[in-house]
Amino acid sequence: MAIDKKFIDQFINVTSKAALAASYQIGKKDKNRADQAAVDSMRAELNKINMNGKVVIGEGTLDEAPLLYTGEFLGSKNGPEFDIAVDPVEGTNFVANNLPGAIAVISIGEKGNLFNAPETYMNKIATGKIDKGLIDLDYPLEKNIKNLSKFKNKDVSSLTVCILDRPRHKIIIDELKDLKVNIKLISDGDVLGALYVSDPKYKVDMFLGIGGGPEGVLAASALDAFNCHFQGRFIFDNEKDIAEAKLLGINDLNKKYELNEIIKGDSIFCASGITSSAVLNGISIKEDKFLCETLITHKSCNFKKIVKSVNSINE
Ligand code: FBP
Repeated sequence: MAIDKKFIDQFINVTSKAALAASYQIGKKDKNRADQAAVDSMRAELNKINMNGKVVIGEGTLDEAPLLYTGEFLGSKNGPEFDIAVDPVEGTNFVANNLPGAIAVISIGEKGNLFNAPETYMNKIATGKIDKGLIDLDYPLEKNIKNLSKFKNKDVSSLTVCILDRPRHKIIIDELKDLKVNIKLISDGDVLGALYVSDPKYKVDMFLGIGGGPEGVLAASALDAFNCHFQGRFIFDNEKDIAEAKLLGINDLNKKYELNEIIKGDSIFCASGITSSAVLNGISIKEDKFLCETLITHKSCNFKKIVKSVNSINE
């Protein structure tokens, strides 16, 4: 059953208030404080919604995070059952250091339809809409690039690949350089990094590399509404993560997940800008009002839009 569109405004309200709360910490060099402010706001606002929500991707286990922990039930308990994935501040360093690209993010799926991702890294690949089998996480990088170049009828040297700037990506970055592909390095924020493939206006043809697993699920839920291609494989490289995976019912630790195994059925995704980026302007405050931009997708309504909202900061 589809998620009622009446929830769209309520979820926009959740991420825009979280973005406002985090925005007071912009440039204050305290990423934990920024995150906490957004967590507190997001939890309070989610609890006002008439739903039976369960956090499937949160701030950690109950021991690690007393608020918005994975498994926490949210909402008035009077309404439909939803799975909820949250990232109150995606790009905590961006907020702490007043850099572009911080967003407040949630994704809502129908109960049982949003992948319960472990807190591990995920190897990811994303592109816009392509033919089945054209791009694959398991193909050599050169094959993926050449296939995409042919499909888009663009020279390899005019393709752009976005990747997190991390030492673990040195081999990929070197190979991209040898292939003469344009590289868009991002210092953090790979939800936004993946979202760049959703619209040609962002001039990113492919996103790839290893980043957070929960961020992979959030990105996938937005990319689903844009009919984009996404695959991810979790990385379990220590006993603690392997034990956690087993608890979550993940038996094949090497499984490559297709987008429709990560997010099924209907979903709503909201990302509100905290600091500005190519996708969203950050929060701006004028007197007692704040202006916020939110990217919203609602799969069943084929609704994908950037919504500008103006609300009182004291509400
Ligand atoms: P936070 O906002 O939680 O700090 O995450 C930022 C981020 O860059 C994510 O976008 C990305 O998935 C992850 O960190 C990458 O992790 P690492 O910094 O360990 O490479």
